[in-house]
Amino acid sequence: MRNVVKVELGARSYEVRIGTGLIGNAGAEIRPLLRRPRVAVVTDATVGALHLAELRAGLGDVEMVSLALPPGEGTKCWAEFQRVVEWLLEQKVERKDIVVAFGGGVIGDLVGFAAAVLRRGVRFVQIPTSLLAQVDSSVGGKTGINSPAGKNLIGAFHQPSLVLADIDVLGTLTARDFLAGYGEVVKYGLLGDPLFFEWLEAEGPRLAAGDRATRLKAVTRSVEMKAEIVARDETEEGDRALLNLGHTFCHALEAATGYGERLLHGEGVAIGCALAFELSQRLGLCSQEAPSRVRAHLREMGMKVDLADIEGDLPDAEGLIALMAQDKKVLDGKLRFILARGIGEAFVTSDVPREVLKGLLEEALAARR
Ligand code: GLY
Repeated sequence: MRNVVKVELGARSYEVRIGTGLIGNAGAEIRPLLRRPRVAVVTDATVGALHLAELRAGLGDVEMVSLALPPGEGTKCWAEFQRVVEWLLEQKVERKDIVVAFGGGVIGDLVGFAAAVLRRGVRFVQIPTSLLAQVDSSVGGKTGINSPAGKNLIGAFHQPSLVLADIDVLGTLTARDFLAGYGEVVKYGLLGDPLFFEWLEAEGPRLAAGDRATRLKAVTRSVEMKAEIVARDETEEGDRALLNLGHTFCHALEAATGYGERLLHGEGVAIGCALAFELSQRLGLCSQEAPSRVRAHLREMGMKVDLADIEGDLPDAEGLIALMAQDKKVLDGKLRFILARGIGEAFVTSDVPREVLKGLLEEALAARR
């Protein structure tokens, strides 16, 4: 079982191969890119313990050196970034070598950024091991680390040379991590493909239960949509911002909850999508049916949907709006939102009256009491 999606970026085009058994066949997949039979793999301790032996075996006669970092968002920091870059230099990784990012979004972003700056840029291969990384962060070349001032504020666009999304590894994710990644899958249907959303409404439970054919289709459609948007707008001058549906709310909620276990990124995306549709409805852009369908599907999947699903204290509405103003999408001091005229019809706008936004957040916060 395998699908291939091409990210069309001229000389920097690459394939995203999605299927089963890709890690076990990594040597054959990667070898055509190699000048010498050697790769440097960076992973985290959790993924390493579960899957590194399989990757080593799959690489066959391609020599592998590896580094395992601590798992978690805290790893996307200057100190670990420096450690990775220095380690790659110690390993004598050359300009024409390949670095492999083997893990979830944290590893992909950090290692991609290290590859972007090492010797002014070396090629890298993404082997994403979380659903979120397979459908979003491994594709499109956004790399980077967090700053105390905010998430992903330091980084570079650096496209991978190949992405291997092995859906077998999704079987070792916790249900919570899987569903968090599913938040990004739903996002694609909501932003641009109503039939895909309809399909997810029907097939989502089977997908979550582990059905491989359904997982393959969901990952493939998500990657196709991302590839198409990235090919149109690699550096987010326009349409790429659509991929941030739900993210303006999400980033504020992640900042408020400390970027940790209280709220995973994909959970914040799901809540953010529900709020974005609710906001769209309040602005008269879409019918009440749209936010109701979004919420009903997320609920059916057992996902977080409301601010009431986030444990612990949250800032008030003004506090959340202030956190939104830290978002990278702020332009000329104005918040930018991705809103929708219906399911699958998202668009970018700065035209959101502050009192409507504040009213929405106040009601959502009040429902927590
Ligand atoms: N995750 C959003 C993007 O890659 O543009």
